[in-house]
Amino acid sequence: MKTIGLVTGGGDAPGLNAVIRAAVKTAVGEYGLRVVGVEDSFEGLLGETRVRELMPADVRGLLPRGGTILGTRNRGRFVVRDADGGHHRRPEDVYREAVANLERLSIEALVVIGGEGTLTIATEFDRLGFPVVGVPKTIDNDLAATELTFGFMTALDIATEALDRLHTTAESHDRVMLLEVMGRHAGWIALHSGVSGGADVILIPEIPFSMAKVAEKVSEREKCDSQFSIIVVAEGAKEVEGSEVYQDMGDAQGSPRLGGMGHHIAHELGRLTGKEARCVVLGHLQRGGSPNAFDRMLATNFGSAAVRALQRGERGVMVSLQAANIRTVPIADAVANLKTVQPESQLVRTARDVGVSFGALNEDDYHKHEIC
Ligand code: F6P
Repeated sequence: MKTIGLVTGGGDAPGLNAVIRAAVKTAVGEYGLRVVGVEDSFEGLLGETRVRELMPADVRGLLPRGGTILGTRNRGRFVVRDADGGHHRRPEDVYREAVANLERLSIEALVVIGGEGTLTIATEFDRLGFPVVGVPKTIDNDLAATELTFGFMTALDIATEALDRLHTTAESHDRVMLLEVMGRHAGWIALHSGVSGGADVILIPEIPFSMAKVAEKVSEREKCDSQFSIIVVAEGAKEVEGSEVYQDMGDAQGSPRLGGMGHHIAHELGRLTGKEARCVVLGHLQRGGSPNAFDRMLATNFGSAAVRALQRGERGVMVSLQAANIRTVPIADAVANLKTVQPESQLVRTARDVGVSFGALNEDDYHKHEIC
């Protein structure tokens, strides 16, 4: 193998550039390979291709830099959705064009850095016989077969800092402050930041909530002389027998976009408790900017390990974090199911032990004694 390609796909996440840097340095320095960066995700492989050679000098200073120097897309021609967003089709002609272009460019294998959507596209290249190795990226941490994705820990720090800041203003004004965080259909960012940031209520997609229970928790805190409450809401949270709230329903080339649950809850809580309730949507602040130390380390480890895996002849695998070591797993295992929070997991239990409410209907079963 003489030339490999690098692709970054899906929503950006802190650490993408650190992966690129590590992959280039390992490929060129350790194995004497040529590295070609594909721009704007897989879209850069269609039509007039958009690619550029990456030399070690091109990745200098990239370790702390947010975003991706290659550009990325979380919509495009490699997945076509039905009008109702249900069925997904992967048009064979689009993939064949991309593979033909890769061959024309003498790229013999791809390191694909992405989340569930991007890695599912990568499995299609593998099925067509084009060698790929995946690197698990997403602030949502919802990829199976790896303990962590890079980007998550930085998003967690940002959400935790936001909760710390909301605490002081909520307390000064005796308000209920809600923080809506990202995470798609998984509650990892909300759960972890809620515990780290001392939230009173954590609402996640995996535990449907009752608005009355959330209002009850706010009122209980008043009785205990806490005139303010902090609530962290995952964008994919839903009420018991309710559904998620979307900002837009997407189209043939883009998925529906979640968002709006935080404002909805703030409005309802104001009505039910008589308290002033405000919502802050953290949004893309969770994805922008510099990766934290952990993500720089994990991304570097992943980027380097992905090139080593290709060099060993591994194909159709993803590098994965398992008990502090990097191993490889079939990409198919990583994208088969979303990794979501288990409602009976240890961290959920711990949160309940320290008085956090998840707004669940059976919440009373967990609170044996008042802890004012
Ligand atoms: O998957 C990462 C993510 O940030 C999700 O948490 C969020 O739902 C989505 O991407 C937002 O995407 P966009 O950048 O298109 O708004």
